[in-house]
Amino acid sequence: MVYRRLLGYARPYWKIFAASIVAMVILAATDTAFAALMKPMLDGSFVNKDPDTIRIIPLAIIGLFMLRGVSGFLSSYGMTWVGRQVINNLRREMFEHMLRLPAGFYDKSSSGQLISKLVYDVEQVAEASTSVLTVVVRDTLTIAGLLAWMFYLNWMLAITFMLTGPFIAFLVAYVNRRFRRISGRIQASMGGVTEAAGQAIEGQRVIKIFGGQRHQADIFDDVNAVNRRQHMKMTATREASVPVIQLVAGSALAGIIYLATMDSMLAKITVGTFMSFIVAMTMLLTPLKRLTTIHSAIQRGIVASESIFGLLDCEAEKDTGTVRIERARGAIEYDNVSFAYAATKGRVLENINLKIEPGQTVAFVGRSGSGKTTLVSLLPRFYDPAMGSITLDGCDIRDFMLEDLRNQIALVGQDVTLFNDTIANNIAYGRQGSVNEADIMRAAEAAHAMEFIRKLPQGLQTIVGEKGMMLSGGQRQRLAIARALLKDAPVLILDEATASLDTESERLIQAALAQLVRNRTTLIIAHRLSTIEQADVIVVMDHGRIVEQGRHAELLARGGHYASLHRMQFASPQTASTDAEIS
Ligand SMILES: Nc1ncnc2c1ncn2[C@@H]1O[C@H](COP(=O)(O)OP(=O)(O)OP(=O)(O)O)[C@@H](O)[C@H]1O
Ligand SMILES: [Mg+2]
Repeated sequence: MVYRRLLGYARPYWKIFAASIVAMVILAATDTAFAALMKPMLDGSFVNKDPDTIRIIPLAIIGLFMLRGVSGFLSSYGMTWVGRQVINNLRREMFEHMLRLPAGFYDKSSSGQLISKLVYDVEQVAEASTSVLTVVVRDTLTIAGLLAWMFYLNWMLAITFMLTGPFIAFLVAYVNRRFRRISGRIQASMGGVTEAAGQAIEGQRVIKIFGGQRHQADIFDDVNAVNRRQHMKMTATREASVPVIQLVAGSALAGIIYLATMDSMLAKITVGTFMSFIVAMTMLLTPLKRLTTIHSAIQRGIVASESIFGLLDCEAEKDTGTVRIERARGAIEYDNVSFAYAATKGRVLENINLKIEPGQTVAFVGRSGSGKTTLVSLLPRFYDPAMGSITLDGCDIRDFMLEDLRNQIALVGQDVTLFNDTIANNIAYGRQGSVNEADIMRAAEAAHAMEFIRKLPQGLQTIVGEKGMMLSGGQRQRLAIARALLKDAPVLILDEATASLDTESERLIQAALAQLVRNRTTLIIAHRLSTIEQADVIVVMDHGRIVEQGRHAELLARGGHYASLHRMQFASPQTASTDAEIS
């Protein structure tokens, strides 16, 4: 169960854990001792006027409270220490696991829900595993101690009190079930809040220009209101359960006083015994109340743990290959590959057969949505094909160690990803600090990025802002190209890598690339046909299939798909680069 699993995380810290438990036992014992002290105090000092008792009792009380203070501090501090340690490890494990989850997982999860798990759910577990444990262990011990003392004093009265037990147990069980259900909804709604906020923050420009504030605010209001309602339900349940439970306990108290003051009883018990019993009983109420309220925290913790372990149990990327590779030659072969995304029905790639020689430059063209990006993203194993196989240097890519395979590939994607760091670190991403500046500059030069970097006040050390917000689209793209060039991998994938550049920059980068592509296998996707005329092979795709394949001149001469794409693009040169249909 989740508890056992959580405790597994606490195991390395068992010494401190055990010490806190010991401190709690002492703490609980002081409560019972206090109730027990009532008997000699009343009987000895008030009834019998025994001088020894009168002297010792006040000292005993001070001693008791000192012991109580120290053990109370140590138990809470120790438990919190262990709890925070567990949370820290859990959070790290979640984060590291998230880095290893396959691309398909991210397709179907919202980042808001994931962030909420990492931020909110983990805190819920922190509460359950520290304060809850403290309360549960300490209070059950206190209750056990006090009950034992009550039985020792007078078992008949104690049994009367115990009769209320089943009622309380029933109530608590009912309340628990409700808590658990509501907790799940609260956590989901926190995810909703994070998600709504995240989208609004990211999309702020679109929201402004299309006047989406009202719409966005409505979405946020909805999730926010759901969150509030669930919290109020939780509070209502908790606060209603407390007085009901206290009423049950109060009735027991009344019954006991009634019983104890009956003539037959009065003869048997002393004032001290009676007072001590009543004190023990009233002292029971506080831990009982805490135990019942703490259940909401426990339930929150359980639901949160389930959500966290659910994430941790999501299967990571399959990395079962064992073949190591230093540097591939770059021969790639797609053998009858078909692929479908889990999220959408229908095949995106069908029976792809493609043979690429080392050092060749292969260009992919075709309509938007024809599967070009999907095809190249199978190579670094962002997804694994449903059927068929892909080989690199004659070896199935699934047989390579994932890290080695990806080391062979540099990629400039359709969406450039920059981190909120310096330009130099973004270019050297993955090897920050271990690459010398001259190499970074050379890569930036080749990508024609140095032109604008030089003009920046801090040059390579300029921070680019979140997602590179401080740069223009074309500048971002050039940094991405520089990053790929610096990696110097035998396989280079350029997915619309120059789409945001002006024609002149694109020409210059083409020239630089021409040098670079010579000794590496390059896969280029481009909508602007002019950029790919020099490719060794042009692959024309349509609806997930390869419909044509050959050199520029051959394909033009054939008068098929490529020729018609070419004709359309050059018929209206002004719109060619932006028209999605022409692709
Ligand atoms: N992560 C995804 N999950 C589900 N379906 C996807 C995903 N990515 C793409 N698709 C679908 O797969 C099909 C092919 O998409 P792909 O991105 O490969 O096209 P493309 O040829 O690169 O298009 P473009 O030229 O517009 O970039 C599309 O119909 C798209 O809806
Ligand atoms: Mg694409």
